[in-house]
Amino acid sequence: MANYDVIIIGAGPGGYVSAIRCAQLGLKTAIVEGRDTLGGTCLNVGCIPSKALLHASHMLHEAEHNFGAMGLKGKSPSVDWKQMLAYKDDTIGQNTKGVEFLMKKNKIDVIKGWAIIPAAGKVQVGDEVHETKNIIIASGSEPASLPGVEVDEKIVVTSTGALKLGKIPKKMVVIGAGVIGLELGSVYARLGSEVTVVEFLDAITPGMDAEVQRSFQKLLTKQGLKFIMGAAVQKTEANKTKAKVHYKLRKDDSEHVIEADTVLVATGRKPFTNGLGLDTLGIEMSPRGQIKVGADWQTNVPGIYAIGDVIDGPMLAHKAEDEGLAAAEQIAGKHGHVNYGVIPGVIYTHPEVANVGETEETLKEQGRNYKVGKFSFMGNGRAKAVFAGEGFVKILADKDTDRILGAHIIGPAAGDLIHEVCVAMEFGASAEDLAMTCHAHPTYSEAVREAALACGDGAIHA
Ligand code: FAD
Ligand code: NAI
Repeated sequence: MANYDVIIIGAGPGGYVSAIRCAQLGLKTAIVEGRDTLGGTCLNVGCIPSKALLHASHMLHEAEHNFGAMGLKGKSPSVDWKQMLAYKDDTIGQNTKGVEFLMKKNKIDVIKGWAIIPAAGKVQVGDEVHETKNIIIASGSEPASLPGVEVDEKIVVTSTGALKLGKIPKKMVVIGAGVIGLELGSVYARLGSEVTVVEFLDAITPGMDAEVQRSFQKLLTKQGLKFIMGAAVQKTEANKTKAKVHYKLRKDDSEHVIEADTVLVATGRKPFTNGLGLDTLGIEMSPRGQIKVGADWQTNVPGIYAIGDVIDGPMLAHKAEDEGLAAAEQIAGKHGHVNYGVIPGVIYTHPEVANVGETEETLKEQGRNYKVGKFSFMGNGRAKAVFAGEGFVKILADKDTDRILGAHIIGPAAGDLIHEVCVAMEFGASAEDLAMTCHAHPTYSEAVREAALACGDGAIHA
């Protein structure tokens, strides 16, 4: 007789959200977490702490650059780094305690410790073996290592170390111009570090719409970040206070060295499955170490499911959550579903960058007939009033049917604005549907409507 209907391994956004939906659907549910606190990478060392530091450093930037122009005179605030870290830790604490509360409220048993799966239907934590009808693996991801680069989390750090540095470095080298590198690079640049980003490719943020990539890099350069593009990092050498980063330029194979007080390695993350015993179970894995699942998130072993960063797809908290909801529904005999074509991505720099659906590049690859509607935030009154006129909204729609195929926003509150396009796409809306929807004035969302208008007869304020 099974003790549980479902045991979930990992209490990140995928796992804990799935546990709540399992409980709501009447399944007897437990969740196992090896960390001291719930919430996974996202709440402890990812989304939440990084956004706290982005917010604090943005406030400083506003005070230094825009307060004077608004008639707010006086000395700019100085940085109390210890207090800033305490604020970040307090934010983490409030969020992880919130998840604990939700587990109690939904009568989900929380089992603390590292789980092993000795066989289908069994989850072992320490000496105790729990019986269960279903298992959901939501064990997340960890930073990928880079050959020749030894991380000590003090001088050469991953994002985890970068969220708790002993002091603000004078010089920081960021390896990788992806999401982590640019978000955390922005934090330290605003706090006064000289930040140089070394990127292997010729464009930042791989996979993003190329026009956005170019604008984004220009804006970050204006903010003081330096970029060394087309550069493959070979190795790092660190002592107790400094590190050297050796890189080779791809265009001519020339070798260079750059020195820094802190090196942030942000070259991607990989699925975390250590110690689960997946080999013994015969669970099929991809060559990239991801657990393979079917359309119902079930692995090749019946009764064992997997969701979130540990499977294929973008490593995003909301993607993990949606899979968690859908897998729970599948287990309960319902028809859980995730529309992978409408998962937004957001970079929380200033300005924010957000995207959903196709890019011009993917549409060209597919040979699709599309049109572009673009609107600059310079034409948006609200954005201009708050020094946020940089950036644009770009909507891609099918040339024949006008159906929205994708959207790319760089500008104020882009991470929130993108959602009206997501909803429109979920409903199969046309650009005209968005354009005909009344948008309140003065809001940033008017820029989205204007971009939709630009897909048709033309934007008004362009
Ligand atoms: P995780 O959150 O990684 O949780 C997995 C949990 O499983 C961990 O707590 C781990 O301890 C536990 N675990 C693993 N194995 C076992 C075991 N055997 N037994 C018990 N417990 C186990 N995404 C966004 O969408 N927005 C953002 O702004 C964002 N910012 C980020 C910033 C940073 C610096 C980083 C590193 C990531 C960020 N991400 C962001 C990505 C996001 O954190 C992940 O996509 C998300 O956490 C994945 O959720 P998950 O539930 O799959 O796994
Ligand atoms: P990433 O995949 O976004 O970027 C890694 C970058 O490193 C790429 O541009 C790549 O070309 C470069 N690179 C790889 N090897 C290199 C080398 N040897 N030398 C120089 N450059 C090299 O990975 P990142 O930034 O580490 O983020 C990991 C994951 O975390 C992402 O998948 C992202 O989805 C998630 N995340 C999401 C956030 C958000 O949604 N706002 C914030 C932070 C992380």
